[in-house]
Amino acid sequence: MSYNIAVDGPAGAGKSTIAKLVAKKKGIIYVDTGAMYRTMALFMLRNQIDPADQESIIAKCREAEVTLGFADGQQVVFLNGENVNGLIRTEEVGNMASVISVIGEVRRNLVEKQQALAAKQDCIMDGRDIGTCVLPNADLKIYLTASSTVRAKRRYDELVAKGQSCDLEQIRLDIEERDYRDMHRELSPLKQAEDAILVDTSDMTIDEVVEKILSLSKERD
Ligand code: CDP
Repeated sequence: MSYNIAVDGPAGAGKSTIAKLVAKKKGIIYVDTGAMYRTMALFMLRNQIDPADQESIIAKCREAEVTLGFADGQQVVFLNGENVNGLIRTEEVGNMASVISVIGEVRRNLVEKQQALAAKQDCIMDGRDIGTCVLPNADLKIYLTASSTVRAKRRYDELVAKGQSCDLEQIRLDIEERDYRDMHRELSPLKQAEDAILVDTSDMTIDEVVEKILSLSKERD
């Protein structure tokens, strides 16, 4: 049986940064499920699909094959064979991902791939529904969160570091809107699994959060 850690939480809680570091320390792979939804969103944006038109999204998602690859422990995401890693980290794609991820047809196919991967390999997987739906039997479940002000500032710093221009207040509003949509959707809403451990990172450094998860994972070994 493979060893699985599930990490869920809202946008900007630090899931990917933390999960990557924990993966490295434990010598397991990091699976970023948000990248799969983002890739599907990129496909919709490229095809100029109206976010409000669910029927078109459902029809179109059948034409997109989203696959994951791993090189040097790093995840690479492919859209119909094309490496799109460098194209999915924009706010436009993130917001579209949140819109299309409410649709069952979009989720089903991606969740199956995530489950198959986790069954085969030791991994730490992050997303919104990992502890609740994708890996209900994960060895350790973490719910990572932070205040929306802190999360907006982190996202802002990340985008500025990449040279993208952005507005802090707009990012905070987008984050709150995205959280609301993720938490209130009918299918697999973002919520803390009953057996997940809550970690509020508002006043914690990255190292402190990583240490905390590593020690929790040791306790469970
Ligand atoms: O990086 P960030 O936390 O902002 O977002 P992400 O993890 O890349 O996910 C983008 C969007 O995909 C989220 O806002 C969710 O709506 C959706 N998503 C989901 O529904 N289920 C997942 N397991 C992962 C992401």
